[in-house]
Amino acid sequence: MGSINLLATSTLRALLLALCIFCIFPQLIVSKHTGITRHYKFNIVMQNVTRLCQTKSIVTVNGKIPGPRIIAREGDRLLIKVVNHVQYNVTLHWHGVRQLRSGWADGPAYITQCPIQTGQTYVYNFTVTGQRGTLFWHAHISWLRVTLYGPIIILPKKHVSYPFPHPHKEIPIIFGEWWKADTETIINQAMQTGGAPNISDAFTINALPGPLYNCSAKDTFKLKVKPGKTYLLRLINAALNDELFFSIANHTLTVVETDAVYVKPFKTQIVLITPGQTTNVLLQAKATAPNATFVMAARPYATGPAAFDNTTTSGILEYDNPSVSSSKKKKHPLLKPSLPVFNDTTFSMKFAKKVRSLATAKFPAKVPQEVDRRFFFTVGLGILPCSQNQTCPNNTRVAASINNVSFVQPNIALLQAHFFNQSKGVYTTDFPANPPLKFNYTGTPPSNIMATTGTKVVVLPFNSSVELVMQDTSIISAESHPLHLHGFNFFVVGQGFGNFNSSKDPAKFNLVDPVERNTVGVPSGGWVAIRFLADNPGVWFMHCHLEVHTSWGLKMAWIVTDGKRPNQKLPPPPSDLPKC
Ligand code: C2O
Repeated sequence: MGSINLLATSTLRALLLALCIFCIFPQLIVSKHTGITRHYKFNIVMQNVTRLCQTKSIVTVNGKIPGPRIIAREGDRLLIKVVNHVQYNVTLHWHGVRQLRSGWADGPAYITQCPIQTGQTYVYNFTVTGQRGTLFWHAHISWLRVTLYGPIIILPKKHVSYPFPHPHKEIPIIFGEWWKADTETIINQAMQTGGAPNISDAFTINALPGPLYNCSAKDTFKLKVKPGKTYLLRLINAALNDELFFSIANHTLTVVETDAVYVKPFKTQIVLITPGQTTNVLLQAKATAPNATFVMAARPYATGPAAFDNTTTSGILEYDNPSVSSSKKKKHPLLKPSLPVFNDTTFSMKFAKKVRSLATAKFPAKVPQEVDRRFFFTVGLGILPCSQNQTCPNNTRVAASINNVSFVQPNIALLQAHFFNQSKGVYTTDFPANPPLKFNYTGTPPSNIMATTGTKVVVLPFNSSVELVMQDTSIISAESHPLHLHGFNFFVVGQGFGNFNSSKDPAKFNLVDPVERNTVGVPSGGWVAIRFLADNPGVWFMHCHLEVHTSWGLKMAWIVTDGKRPNQKLPPPPSDLPKC
């Protein structure tokens, strides 16, 4: 009798405990019952493609450019099997996916993994948590992302709607950049001589340059719309080296989401989008089909000292109107949008300041209100002495740096070195929290500044809240730098022109509804302040998303240590993690 009673009590206790766990961690129930596993197979293969009257062999996923769309719902697990059939080493990165405790699947070569070598396979395995919207995937080694890229579309959980009118259709519009020549040769030669690599020959919309380029009228993206309907355009800038202005003639766009986070809707004629950024906009088609065809166009916002590709990619917006014959439609006037001049930094700043978090009860902006660790990073170009294996015309080479450190890629992945406590000879933890030399960052720089080199990281204790001010420098020339942080979203709490003033500027920070994103433009000749919570253990790359600047060393990494609880630790690597 007594023992039965005891058994009943303990069962009851266990039951109560289980119930209790679910009230403390309701997400345990949720994660068990939502979220499916989705499988993708990505074969990396060469493919002949003709653009601008020239055929070349490019690296693709499954022979397609843009590559396949990844579609998932918030909470789903993705298993993407990548098989490398080409002569190049390859890695893929799921740009903007938070990779909570799945850093081994993040993808930057020599940061979180060794490359997938020819003939090898790696399964990227991660779960999409707390995110919905547009992101993209791209190669993360050398310049291979020029043709290896595609959209990631994260839909809300089932029966959850958008915080804006449900669109009739959703269309990815992915901007790319095209070179007639082989881009691996271009960047390798530039690294050899220490100079700037050749600029691209075209920009593309969904890999199509459009009629403003030679032989390209047939390679034009066309968007057909029905009068009165609303369309969600998922804009993605997958170009290598250029920020882009985008506009559609005679149509206003409503921005509703950036970097897979909802924003306060605002209307604009023109969108500015940096490499690494995504922007969802609503396009409201006119109530009745107009007797006109509309051009959509994108061209660079460029502030740097070097030459840039000053061409325009364009597509067509056409209204469905069965009552008008196609021969008549051909006679419709073609209306063109007007875009800002290439160096319109005033527009850039105005646009950046319009973007704010939705910040509602359902979609709160969890801005860290307290700061544990403060950092001030200068970002910009500079020079370095020519190295031994190079042949530089004037014995110096162009470099790019953060706090004057030009990052040197290690030979094994930082994450492996960190996880197995083998940092010796791979990296050091002395990345400077402040510039080693103070000067008027946006004025006339001292003439004798040379960058330094190293593989240095910052170590952050788990759950520390970080404030980082990034300051552009005019060492070679002021320039806008789209900085991208892996593994986190951050809040853009402040920005301005000139030098950051640590006694005056923080008072003006927006800690209520700042935009939350993964890539932000450091204003040309200005600064930006971001905050994030280091709640994701692992090694997280941060770099300029202008690929040429990454090649030159404008990159560094954060190491976030494990937390105390088991669910705050990075699990060991998967058994198929590529070896160097
Ligand atoms: Cu979109 Cu480190 O990359």
